[in-house]
Amino acid sequence: MTNPPTVMAALEAAIAASEQVVGTTSPNPPVGAAILSAEGELVGVGATQPPGGPHAEVMALRAAGERARGGTAVVTLEPCHHVGRTGPCSHALLGAGIRTLYYAHEDATPPAAGGAEWLRQQGMEVHRLDVEVPTLRPWLRAMALGRPHVTLKCAQTLDGFTAAPDGTSQWITGLEARAWVHRDRARRDAIIIGTGTALADNPSLTARTPEGELLERQPRRVVIGRRSLDPERTSNLHRLGFEQYDSPAAALAALWEEGARDVLVDGGAGLLTSFLEEGLADALQVYVAPLLLGEGRGTLCRPLARTLAEATRLHQRSLHQVGEDILWELTLDRDEERNPACSPE
Ligand SMILES: NC(=O)c1ccc[n+]([C@@H]2O[C@H](COP(=O)([O-])OP(=O)(O)OC[C@H]3O[C@@H](n4cnc5c(N)ncnc54)[C@H](OP(=O)(O)O)[C@@H]3O)[C@@H](O)[C@H]2O)c1
Repeated sequence: MTNPPTVMAALEAAIAASEQVVGTTSPNPPVGAAILSAEGELVGVGATQPPGGPHAEVMALRAAGERARGGTAVVTLEPCHHVGRTGPCSHALLGAGIRTLYYAHEDATPPAAGGAEWLRQQGMEVHRLDVEVPTLRPWLRAMALGRPHVTLKCAQTLDGFTAAPDGTSQWITGLEARAWVHRDRARRDAIIIGTGTALADNPSLTARTPEGELLERQPRRVVIGRRSLDPERTSNLHRLGFEQYDSPAAALAALWEEGARDVLVDGGAGLLTSFLEEGLADALQVYVAPLLLGEGRGTLCRPLARTLAEATRLHQRSLHQVGEDILWELTLDRDEERNPACSPE
């Protein structure tokens, strides 16, 4: 059997490969795969290509070529077992002569599920890893909920305000945080705002470099609310094109149907509060800037609880310093989707 440190190093390579394709694979998951030769050498790494293209296992097998024979595949998600636009990855692994499979998350999607069990039945040694792969989290949650995974984003002062008393909110965070925000936008299927923000800020909702160049991948631009958007006040959205929906639920249902699995809600307070009230938020991304206003507009605008005991408790996922600002990523998940599975033996 391939020794565990080698398997974990291969898993890290697979996760790193999947990082590169986040935002390009929906409705498919951004999976990463790595192949170890029979001697335990890392000989191929791959990640899911855009819809219709090869899956991660096929990319990694192609990179490994003949060196895959007798080797080990390490995959972030259970290999698919159905014929969609591409052939089943379970068959590709078996056909390439892979002897051992390690995978992190189960694929519970009805048509794709069953790859690991089928491979076991064909005589392959199959192990599940007790690891949570961060790049798969939004997709797994979206599949469990039947709607896109929703991250609420806000930029606030140290004392919790997202706009000054006069309504100005550009820019609370520094250049580094803004660059981070734009890179993050390119990894999402859609950016959603309320009509209030559309009318107040005339945003373009594009993903750009610090020099203002458009990044290669652009998310869909979505506005929620019933007010019609005056083309003069919202000229950027009208120039670039956008979709408008009457409610958060209607927006998520339409986006899901069209293949979106991971979306970002970029304010303002009215819309963020609605997503929380309606139980439609999965994660929070809070940029905190070292600024004090003393008074201003809050991150939320209606009470979610009357006492501390009823307050919504979030769970920290990560904390980064970005320039002079802090990026705090939190989850609202009620059930942590960790694998109750074995560690590599
Ligand atoms: N610092 C930050 O991170 C940040 C980010 C974004 C915005 N902002 C600031 O926030 C301010 C705007 O915030 P805001 O609260 O006034 O506006 P908003 O949240 O952008 O939009 C509120 C509108 O969204 C629609 N909406 C919200 N919940 C809904 C629901 N459940 N169903 C249907 N429609 C719903 C309604 O539109 P209709 O009335 O049209 O039906 C509502 O009036 C601006 O000053 C902006 O600069 C700050």
